[in-house]
Amino acid sequence: MKVSSDLNVIRRVCQESNVCTWGLVPTMGYLHDGHLSLVRRARSECDRVGVSIFVNPIQFTSAEDLKSYPRNLDRDLELLREQEVDLIWTPQPGQVYPDDFQTSVNVERITRPMEGASRPDHFRGVTTVVAKLFNVFQPDRAYFGEKDRQQLFAIQQMVRDLNYDIEVVPCAILREPDGLAMSSRNARLTARGRKQAVCLYEALSSAKTAVASGVAEVDTIREEMISVIHKHAGAHIDYVTVAAVETLHELTTVEGPALVFVAVEIDGIRLIDNILVNPLA
Ligand code: PAJ
Repeated sequence: MKVSSDLNVIRRVCQESNVCTWGLVPTMGYLHDGHLSLVRRARSECDRVGVSIFVNPIQFTSAEDLKSYPRNLDRDLELLREQEVDLIWTPQPGQVYPDDFQTSVNVERITRPMEGASRPDHFRGVTTVVAKLFNVFQPDRAYFGEKDRQQLFAIQQMVRDLNYDIEVVPCAILREPDGLAMSSRNARLTARGRKQAVCLYEALSSAKTAVASGVAEVDTIREEMISVIHKHAGAHIDYVTVAAVETLHELTTVEGPALVFVAVEIDGIRLIDNILVNPLA
């Protein structure tokens, strides 16, 4: 396993072995089983696997959130060694964004609602860094979690729009036994907040059950979800949205497969999750 903070080393290793397929798993570190499921998938589908560990400053909306983002590089490297990863890039911010940096990649429509509305410029930061990672590693496949489904869609859109010759592979959400989606941010919850955090999955499950049993009105689905979340005193809703699968346009009725998204703040920590619902299920 080669670990380097140097962009030129990463580029050279990827180019030297260009006869085999490369899979890339971009991360911000503090790895958990959700991240590792992407790595395992890449390991099973590609000859070489690269992982980036970089807490990308330009996708954070507050300096405080960036500062408190959890980090543990030694543990991350240990976990990746167990997965037999070939190459890891751990750049310093100054190498990714030198002083004269002035270019960004922005995907327009699909990034506007939900996370885009709550966190201005967040997705511009994500697509800009992912474009740079794609240029450095030049992978054949890149693995992204459905946990951040709007991010996944934005990246798929960028790949189409900018003609990247990369297959974006969506990976299923890994959950804790009680249903909470695994996230690096979960580590920052208090014991009480951790218990309350199950409300995201409870709300999404209530939507799934309602839709499967024939409820089509989004107002009814949302009301039930909101009441499930409000049973937990410390949970503050940012949004509850039912959206079309392809476009993420907000729906008023569910007549086919749809996506349900939630963002909730607990202990001052924003948690997001989503689920696919289907009236025919
Ligand atoms: P990060 O939050 O570290 O997540 C890295 C990848 O792991 C993302 O594709 C994310 O969707 C996936 N992931 C996280 N939790 C997951 C879970 N419970 N199940 C399945 N996949 C999960 O997302 C980012 O970093 C950054 O925005 C990044 C793309 C690296 C750009 O900076």
